[in-house]
Amino acid sequence: MQSTSSHLPDLEGRAEIEQLVNAFYDRVRGDDVLGFIFSEVAHTDWAAHLPKMYAFWEQVIFRTGGYTGNPLAVHARLVPLTAMGRPQFDRWLQIFQSTVDSLFSGPNADHIKNCAADMAQVIHRRINPDADHSAHPVGLTPEQRARYAAAGQS
Ligand code: HEM
Repeated sequence: MQSTSSHLPDLEGRAEIEQLVNAFYDRVRGDDVLGFIFSEVAHTDWAAHLPKMYAFWEQVIFRTGGYTGNPLAVHARLVPLTAMGRPQFDRWLQIFQSTVDSLFSGPNADHIKNCAADMAQVIHRRINPDADHSAHPVGLTPEQRARYAAAGQS
């Protein structure tokens, strides 16, 4: 989704990544669908998780975060413990995209939303190999919808 021109700044570096990640997880922690997965299922140590996520997103957007981890394995480990299906990924992406839109606007803001949509799609598919993938998560661009539909046919 292209952002229209606005008074909001774009993501320029580490400071904005930290602001985005903090705002995103503030909302996730209070969310009915996702909050308990962190607090009661994963027992997340936020002092460790937040810096990891700053590094992750800095790596994705600016190639400088130094993140080295395996998100696929981390999420796959949650599957036997709690629902990790379409409703959870739709909510995750909706919160991510609306958090970006509340704070930032511009090419990097658009890029991080597209990266999040792509990764949500990939992680959901890989950890739910038997699910019906004909429906798409919220917030995809027309280009992503077309690309995923084509991939589903191959
Ligand atoms: C249903 C949606 C999701 C849920 C419930 C979820 C939940 C979690 C949880 C519980 C952790 C472990 C935190 C800890 O260490 O205690 C985690 C880690 C992580 N998540 Fe997610 N997540 C979701 C979607 C995503 C998506 C779409 C992405 C990427 C765009 C993502 C990126 C990451 C990364 C990078 C880590 C750190 C992995 C590591 O330890 O290296 N998550 N997530």
